[in-house]
Amino acid sequence: MLELINVRKTFNPGTVNEKKALQGLDIKLNEGDFVTVIGGNGAGKSTMLNAVAGVWPVDEGRIILDGQDITALPEHKRAALIGRVFQDPMMGTAPNMWMEENLALALRRGSRRGLRWGISNAEREMFVERLKTLELGL
Ligand SMILES: Nc1ncnc2c1ncn2[C@@H]1O[C@H](COP(=O)(O)OP(=O)(O)O)[C@@H](O)[C@H]1O
Ligand SMILES: [Mg+2]
Repeated sequence: MLELINVRKTFNPGTVNEKKALQGLDIKLNEGDFVTVIGGNGAGKSTMLNAVAGVWPVDEGRIILDGQDITALPEHKRAALIGRVFQDPMMGTAPNMWMEENLALALRRGSRRGLRWGISNAEREMFVERLKTLELGL
């Protein structure tokens, strides 16, 4: 489902700050896999996720998602295919929008969006039900 083949990324190449963050990373994940990546500070965990999300181009290697080579696909186009929760809670959410509006945006990921009413009553009820399970009083 998600495959990284020989992915390489060096930051600030050819300078004193050169950092080889990914040196030929191979990973193959199948649908339904739940994976925890463990590594010390600076090991390259975030760099790996950024490579998958397309934050910047990788130097070498290929990234395949559901059989599609997305290596050259820009981040905003990959966003239709990939959901991401950021380490920094201020990233990936719109703080000036209601929580249900944020959830509605997430629900429509990858589907066509037009100028229509944003949230249906059924969706609103679904959000409330799902949020209840977190027991955070939301
Ligand atoms: N945008 C960047 N510019 C320069 N160096 C970076 C950048 N992002 C990460 N690095 C470096 O790449 C290495 C891996 O970092 P990172 O992937 O953030 O590690 P982790 O998430 O495992 O703590 C570190 O040495 C880090 O300083
Ligand atoms: Mg990190």
